[in-house]
Amino acid sequence: MSLYTYFTPTKVIFGKGAEDQVGSLIQGQGCKKVLLHYGGGSARRSGLLDRIERSLECSGISYVSLGGVVPNPRLSLVYEGIRLAKEEGVDFILAIGGGSVIDSAKAIGYGAANDGDVWDFFTGARKPSACLPIGAVPTIAAAGSEMSWSSVITEETHGLKRSCNNDLSRPVFAVMDPELTMTLPPYQTACGCADILMHTMERYFNHSDNLDLTDGIAEALLRTVLHHSLVLRDHPDNYESRAEIMWAGSLSHNGLTGFGTDGGDWSTHKMEHELSGMFDVAHGAGLTAVWGSWARYVCRERLDRFVQFALRVMDVAPAGDDYQTALAGIAAMEEFFRSIGMPTSLTELGVSPTDAQLEEMAEKCIQAVGGKTLGVVKPLAMQDVAAIYRAAK
Ligand code: NZQ
Ligand code: ZN
Repeated sequence: MSLYTYFTPTKVIFGKGAEDQVGSLIQGQGCKKVLLHYGGGSARRSGLLDRIERSLECSGISYVSLGGVVPNPRLSLVYEGIRLAKEEGVDFILAIGGGSVIDSAKAIGYGAANDGDVWDFFTGARKPSACLPIGAVPTIAAAGSEMSWSSVITEETHGLKRSCNNDLSRPVFAVMDPELTMTLPPYQTACGCADILMHTMERYFNHSDNLDLTDGIAEALLRTVLHHSLVLRDHPDNYESRAEIMWAGSLSHNGLTGFGTDGGDWSTHKMEHELSGMFDVAHGAGLTAVWGSWARYVCRERLDRFVQFALRVMDVAPAGDDYQTALAGIAAMEEFFRSIGMPTSLTELGVSPTDAQLEEMAEKCIQAVGGKTLGVVKPLAMQDVAAIYRAAK
């Protein structure tokens, strides 16, 4: 195992009705004025926002509200949130919604607690020194932002989607009620399941060794999500499956499934971020559209891990040689993605980038990692990234 820091300071309250505890949880933080941050309407329509407002009122906590976060959350709303938080003297931000809302809340938290332009933290020009405390009430199991150190924001003028990774933004609590995810459209449920799988797979395909326990946890998580995604496809109101998927979403992205590794290979995520920066696609769908092409391009560099994945996770029979077994595992995962309605190519994703756009995305991927190579399984130069995008067409 490699030297590794595991830091999960987020208190988790999990189960039916958990959201009723929000007021007392914020009271316990000693905070007085909350910014309620939410998305485009689902939390209001479901009655969740009303329940949360009641919980705050019962605990004597005042609040201001800012809705309107869109998927692939925008920097312009983050600026608005920072202005509001400063004007109102907000000392806590409560994010109610998906990864986009939680990420937007984290960015506002940085902007309200530091001077200067918050976007500097996303370009890497500066590091934040503080963040307002964040609480999360996730309504979709997907990004894992409720326990992660990431915030991913889109600067809409140039179509740049960038992340800021810092422990300061890890939510102080996450209130997770699996029932809240039952109003999701099937496509969003599937996008979330795909993202959860990918957060563990990006860590699983690494360049580390001797990972019995970490591999076992990762494989169990992947098999659990494979199984319960199919249950939810056919029975979206199955509570137990909603719960399994929701907990998997948090564990998939809080560092546990990468424990003792080199951190994994995040090429597929980086390539997806450029896709959603340019074409505003759903994150989970963008990931599945390119993953198979990435995997086939790099798998010879870590055949042992791709074979282990094929046998232990995808349950394929060993083929003639290791390379064939690895390819069978990749094909089985692509088949699974299709079975839950996820795309396995850019065409299926509904985008047709020109050659110039493919080159531009490849260039931006490399810029985003400081002009170096992407990933660890096979470090990718710009022409490799462009070749993977082309193969994914
Ligand atoms: O805005 P509303 O009306 O709430 O609608 C949302 C949105 O349209 C809807 N939704 C959420 N909960 C619902 C619901 N609709 C009905 N019922 C519910 N219970 O779902 C849509 C998608 O929401 P979004 O927040 O965008 O989804 P997700 O959680 O997948 O977040 C995606 C964002 O997270 C980033 C992605 O890049 C993307 O910007 N990521 C963040 C990470 C992190 N912070 O650690 C890691 C990830 O790899 C990812 O990059
Ligand atoms: Zn993701």
